Amino acid sequence: MTRELELLDRVESGQPMAHADWLWLLEHRETMDRPALYDRARAVREREFGFGIHTRGLIEISSFCKNDCYYCGLRRSNAHASRYRLTKEQILDCCETGWKLGFRTFVLQGGEDAYYTDERMCDIVSEIHRRYPEAAITLSLGERSEESYRRLKEAGADRYLLRHETATDAHYRMLHPPELSLAHRKECLFTLKRLGYQVGAGFMVGSPGQTNADLARDFQFLDELQPQMIGIGSFVPHHDTPFAQKPGGTVEDTLFCLALLRLRFPKVLLPATTALGTIDPKGRERGILAGANVVMPNLSPVDTRKQYELYDNKICTGEEAAESRAALEARMQAIGCHLTVDRGDAPGFEAGGF
Ligand code: 5AD
Repeated sequence: MTRELELLDRVESGQPMAHADWLWLLEHRETMDRPALYDRARAVREREFGFGIHTRGLIEISSFCKNDCYYCGLRRSNAHASRYRLTKEQILDCCETGWKLGFRTFVLQGGEDAYYTDERMCDIVSEIHRRYPEAAITLSLGERSEESYRRLKEAGADRYLLRHETATDAHYRMLHPPELSLAHRKECLFTLKRLGYQVGAGFMVGSPGQTNADLARDFQFLDELQPQMIGIGSFVPHHDTPFAQKPGGTVEDTLFCLALLRLRFPKVLLPATTALGTIDPKGRERGILAGANVVMPNLSPVDTRKQYELYDNKICTGEEAAESRAALEARMQAIGCHLTVDRGDAPGFEAGGF
């Protein structure tokens, strides 16, 4: 058997993968039979999830951020960024629209905005939970204290997305200012797991300075963390950041990583992200065909969408939520899939059970 197939079998078998094993795959990706890999990953998705694609309604609650990550358009030093935050009522309106459209997961995402104290955030989460007890609540609000994560969980949050961004210390320091550390990021992720959240980690593909060795460590870190969700997307430069002139990640590299992740983590919730849809008009479909099984259309109010500008040319900023969902439904049907109306929990976490 070729080294390629031997290693892919190893990935899929769940046996230990050394750094050198991941590295070999990453270094040989250009010459590998990638269509065959994507088909294989898609077959795993179909075996585990059928043709149903889970949807999450994304509500971008705040474009204020106290952090200064070099890649992100919402970084605090970006004086050109336009800032907004949604009120509790606006967020609840988004949920109402979303519920009627068939969303059974609401993702509240925002920059690290001190306005959303534990008290304010718990109030919002518990009200969503009260009004929509059958919906799952996912938070994506960055690094907070253990106490904060605990209170939010008690208020009704089910899941938490916190990409690790890169699992290599030196690379983490290339992407972030000195006050942020990979060690703390990882600590947050393990804390969230311990508190009983379904946890999502992830990274950008093609971020500035990323090497194959760094990516190999990302896969190893995910092996260690065993998250229920993995969010990856291509790096897309933003014109008002220090990385404005850096090249973006490629569609092929992102698909390659998605496919490897599906083989390694057959049951993981793996979105075909907006970033992938931004760099390729068929990006999300291609992501699904390479093993992804989640899409996250935007439920944010249309007048704030454009302001949540993580990177340039972000898609779907002018669409109403209903349009977004209908358009995605059509796109999914065109590739033999359909959107589901369910919470789409990770195995073992169904209906909020833990
Ligand atoms: N390109 C792609 N993804 C980005 N993110 C932030 N900035 C960019 C960018 N320029 C991603 C980060 C973050 C998530 C909310 O968005 O990975 O975790």
